[in-house]
Amino acid sequence: MDKKKLQRAAARAVSVLRENLGNFTYQFPGSNSEHMFYPATENTEWTTGFCTGTYWLAYELSGEERFRTSAEVQVESFYNRIKQKTDVDHHDMGFLYTPSCVAAYQLTGNQQAKEAAILAADQLISRFQEKGEFLQAWGELGAKNNYRLIIDCLLNLPLLYWASLVTGDEKYRDIAIRHTRTSIRNLVREDNSTYHTYFFNPRTGEPLRGVTAQGYRDDSAWARGQAWGIYGTALAWRYTKNEVCRKLFRKVTDFYLRHLPEDMVPYWDLQFSEGSSEPRDSSAAAAAVCGILEMCSNGGLEKEEQSFYRNEAQRMLESLIDKYAVTSSQEANGLLRHGVYAKSSPYNSVSDRGVDECNLWGDYFFLEALTRNLKEWKTYW
Ligand code: GLY
Repeated sequence: MDKKKLQRAAARAVSVLRENLGNFTYQFPGSNSEHMFYPATENTEWTTGFCTGTYWLAYELSGEERFRTSAEVQVESFYNRIKQKTDVDHHDMGFLYTPSCVAAYQLTGNQQAKEAAILAADQLISRFQEKGEFLQAWGELGAKNNYRLIIDCLLNLPLLYWASLVTGDEKYRDIAIRHTRTSIRNLVREDNSTYHTYFFNPRTGEPLRGVTAQGYRDDSAWARGQAWGIYGTALAWRYTKNEVCRKLFRKVTDFYLRHLPEDMVPYWDLQFSEGSSEPRDSSAAAAAVCGILEMCSNGGLEKEEQSFYRNEAQRMLESLIDKYAVTSSQEANGLLRHGVYAKSSPYNSVSDRGVDECNLWGDYFFLEALTRNLKEWKTYW
């Protein structure tokens, strides 16, 4: 893709973020926009780390101190959040603390960020279940109706690898590896599509069944779940060099690619195909691009297949730039249009939320994808 196009897209994104700093420094954007504009919220939910993450990316791309200043204000908020244990009784410590605090420590040596991220890693491993060997995603620990892992959690694991690295304590890494093993054994089906969540027997640890929360049906492939699978297996390969992870990366990515419509941006569930009136989920595409670029940069692919997958990722990114990116702050205060947070179906358990809107992780991964193309980027993950 033309470098100028990438630079223009990044400049537009940075300019929208610049205009957001006034509203979103001491407060955060909500998880998804409403009529294309994010409301302001406190530091709650699983998504606020992506706001800080976009500021760090914007800082790396532009060198503007204002982004660093705002990101550092938010790091303090993340420190307070984990100290006070505000809305941290779930597994999404990686989504929250990697793009905010691990990034801060990596880029500036911020000690408060380091402490916050280690506390977040402690919080995450407190959810590890020996019976079944997995990190319980949601709800009361040990409760039968929540005794499950979810595919999204693969993105929470880099926080644990990082925590082992900076503390010298292998316990975080050990849990990440055991959770990965359980995930890949159970979440990927015969046809290489993926379950969103998987239940275990709390008494014996025996795997029970795959169930969706946000996908269309239990046996369909939720597009974002498959994208978390792509990025998750690429990261698992980075940290474990386990051959199974590399093979699975290829398999889940190939399934995803085979189920894309012409413009390379999936409908919110991969069971829908070209011509469907269902909404797209641009955030799944952004995460998939980053996952593929991650695998292309971490030695997981032979030269020829690397060029195949890189080319597919560039086609997806070009489509996002051409048809999905926000082009001015009058249009929206997010970066990527046409995302879906949750869409209800007759078979799933969610209500409509953030349908055909921007969402914070879509914005973040879109900017990460641009950054990966524009500079030698040291990953936050
Ligand atoms: N991790 C939650 C989601 O992807 O909606």
